[in-house]
Amino acid sequence: MIQLNSAGRRYGHKLLFDGADLLITPRDRVGLVGANGTGKSTVLKILADQETLDYGSVSVAKGISAGYLPQDGLTLSGRTVFAECLSVFSRLSNLEKEMEQLTSSMAELDHTSPEYNQVADRYHRIEHEFRTHDGYAIEAQVGAVLSGLGFRTEDWHRQTEEFSGGWQMRIALAKLLLQKPNLLLLDEPTNHLDLESRNWLEEYLSNYPYAFVLISHDRYFLDVTVNRIVEIWNKKIWIYSGNYEKYLSQKSFYQSLPLSSDKSQAGTEPDQRTGEDREDRIAGRRKDDPFFLPAAEAEWQAGCRVLRCGEVIRPEGSFS
Ligand SMILES: Nc1ncnc2c1ncn2[C@@H]1O[C@H](COP(=O)(O)OP(=O)(O)O)[C@@H](O)[C@H]1O
Ligand SMILES: [Mg+2]
Repeated sequence: MIQLNSAGRRYGHKLLFDGADLLITPRDRVGLVGANGTGKSTVLKILADQETLDYGSVSVAKGISAGYLPQDGLTLSGRTVFAECLSVFSRLSNLEKEMEQLTSSMAELDHTSPEYNQVADRYHRIEHEFRTHDGYAIEAQVGAVLSGLGFRTEDWHRQTEEFSGGWQMRIALAKLLLQKPNLLLLDEPTNHLDLESRNWLEEYLSNYPYAFVLISHDRYFLDVTVNRIVEIWNKKIWIYSGNYEKYLSQKSFYQSLPLSSDKSQAGTEPDQRTGEDREDRIAGRRKDDPFFLPAAEAEWQAGCRVLRCGEVIRPEGSFS
């Protein structure tokens, strides 16, 4: 559905990640994690077509509509909260307006005239489309999402510009959820939510009919919403099947593997004498031998074959 192929991205001299392969299929529920500054927001922007890659490519299947919520910085103005949310359904609102016009035309026309038949025919076609797209339930949907995200009914008709930054993000989130894009991309959506709204969003996403990728530092939220964890770590993209808890256990298993049979390189702690850490040591060995594969990774790869059935997907493009 959307795929990164050998993807790489840098900012100036700083490499964020490279050699990244990632495939997101319909109904995937992906949690994107990593330390601050590793490039999570950048990956999401790349998927949302708001940033470009420096290496590799992004392939997007036809018919994908990505809906993206940035981490912050959105400001809406000029409409009430309710009208702003209704604007998502502009096509249905236009159909509704046309239905009203056709109804008044029908009231004025002679029921036996050919014009009446033409207008009635058009009305029935439009009404069918309106009903098929849940047109009669739009306002109820808007109300449910606004309540879920913590807006009191008395606030629905206040102007959006009266709301602070966090609440602006809630309005933007409400609009995205109402739009129901088939690829929802949410950058730290829980940052602006209280516990009740967070729980509501958790439930909403669990029932979301399409794919989503979300960034969150809330492990409990990730545990119940996602079925894959994509981690940016050590400038690579690592893919783990399962929720956050499963990711942690898979990762600790990986890190517990000995680095190599060489005792001086066994641990993940920095070397007492040289201060080199595990990655420095791997990089050092790879200078002489570009195909050097530390024992841990070799075991890991071997283990992956056993664990492959839904347990672990090894990082693509790494260790080669
Ligand atoms: N507009 C920018 N200009 C320069 N560097 C940037 C810019 N945006 C991001 N970066 C760099 O890219 C790194 C990753 O940013 P980001 O994708 O926001 O990370 P994350 O979301 O994981 O915290 C940052 O540490 C920063 O060094
Ligand atoms: Mg970020």
